[in-house]
This record gives sequence, C-alpha cells and structure tokens, in this order.
Amino acid sequence: MLEERRKKIEETISYLNNRKHISPKIAIVLGSGLGGLTQSMEIVDEIPYTEIPNFPVSTVKGHKGTMIFGRLGGVEVLVFNGRMHYYEGYPMDVVTYPQQILKGLGINILILSNAAGGMNPTFKVGDIMIIKDHINLFGNNPLMGPNDDELGPRFPNMSEVYSHRLIKLAYEKSKETGVHLQEGVYMGVSGPCFETPAEYRMFHIMGADAVGMSTVPEAIMAHHRGLEIFALSVITDLGVVGQVMEASHEEVLQAANTAGPNMVKLICAMLPEM
Ligand code: HPA
Repeated sequence: MLEERRKKIEETISYLNNRKHISPKIAIVLGSGLGGLTQSMEIVDEIPYTEIPNFPVSTVKGHKGTMIFGRLGGVEVLVFNGRMHYYEGYPMDVVTYPQQILKGLGINILILSNAAGGMNPTFKVGDIMIIKDHINLFGNNPLMGPNDDELGPRFPNMSEVYSHRLIKLAYEKSKETGVHLQEGVYMGVSGPCFETPAEYRMFHIMGADAVGMSTVPEAIMAHHRGLEIFALSVITDLGVVGQVMEASHEEVLQAANTAGPNMVKLICAMLPEM
C-alpha cells in the first residue's frame, strides 16, 4: 500500500519537475471565491489538474482546478487554484494529495486560504482572520493508516501547526498595508451542510472563532511533512448567536470575492520576507 502510494506521488512529482520552468519555495492554496489572486500574478505556466498524472480534480463551483507556476509581487509561487474537499466524497488521501507532492517540488512554505463562517461576535462579513490554531472535527484524519516514517512521524506534535514566525510577519505587514486582521481558531468540519444555529453556538463554546469545510486535513498533512504553514480565513457569513445568516454558496462566493483584494494585498506584502 505504501509502495503503491509512493509510486503514484513520485510520478506526479517527476511530471511537474520535468515541466516546470521556475522553482518556487512557496505554495498557495486558494479557497472558494479567492481565485482573484491569480489576476495579480505573472503566470509562467498554468496546468489543468486533469493533465497532471494521478492528480485529483475538484468538482465545486468557484474552484477552477489548475496549478499555476508564476510570480506574485516578484516572488516565485506555486498556486493551487481549486482544492479537493472531503464532502465531495474523496478519501482524505485524495483531499490532501497536493500537500503530499510539495516537498518533492522543493516547496517548504504553504499558505492556505478559505472561506469560513464567523462565530466570534466581534467578526464582520469580509473580515480576514489569521488561523492561529484549529480543531479537527472531520471525524477523520489524513494520517490514518500505515505511516511512511521517511516522510514524517507516526505521532506528530501539533503544538505549532501555524507558524508563529509567519503570524508575526502578517501583523507587521497588516500595519504597513492597513489590511485589518482578526485572529482565531478554525473549526474544520466535513460539510456539505452549513451549520444549524445550535451547531454554530456549540462550536463557539468549544473554542472556535470560525468554521469551514477545508484546510484542516491539508494543514495536518503539510505539518506532518515538515512544511511551515500560514493560513487565512475570509469570513463570508456569520453564525453568531442571534444573528445567524442564511448562508448560501453564492453569498459565500460573493463575500469572498469582495474581501479577496485585501487578502492579496497582505500576501503580496508578506511574500518577499517569508
Ligand atoms: N460553515 C461552514 N463552512 C463555511 C461557512 C459556514 O458558515 N461559510 C463558508 N464556508
């Protein structure tokens, strides 16, 4: 089983390494409605996921499904424009496939972004939240099954999944750019339902400030592989007691599109010093 998985991953990595013209050290995963970041990029090569050997394909509206090698603010980056979600029916191994190829491509920093529902009463729609920690409520874990000890430990330490160094840098750049930041704990759930008012309330009592259907499996896999991680949520709807919104996918996409430019501004300011 491990041998087979390794072979698949090596095939993907060698295809991409043979094709790529630049060697970015930083990868960015774009969440729902956040694809606008690619408009600020100098694109060197854009590869549909369907062209990459063994690479899974996202079926969700608002997720494009291409891998882009290019430059953002002059810094070389690899952008995943579209991600695979657990609620699409993919096993965790497939959801976290991009994170399993990163080290082989020479990447050592991963930026994750997502759209999330805010539960902290001080949050507003359009806010950007630095993820300082997460709670895994997927009821599953991408590291289940045999462990490949050459890639990472059986029992990973989770005391600093989200790099304190990069969070500090984000605050410095927030001051310079005027992009306002919230900070909080992200609750990762399977979806695809949005939460009931009782669930939003429970998640907030449990210690989460925002909830979403991605990011946690990816962060676990990337952390296991030794990558340094920075993650942002765009708050697209509120699950605050007494003001739970009737969130729809369209509204989430619209709110993410509006907040997108601020997220791009912050990331562009951070990249040269990462
Ligand atoms: N809940 C779960 N996932 C989400 C939400 C939400 O309210 N908003 C955007 N993604």
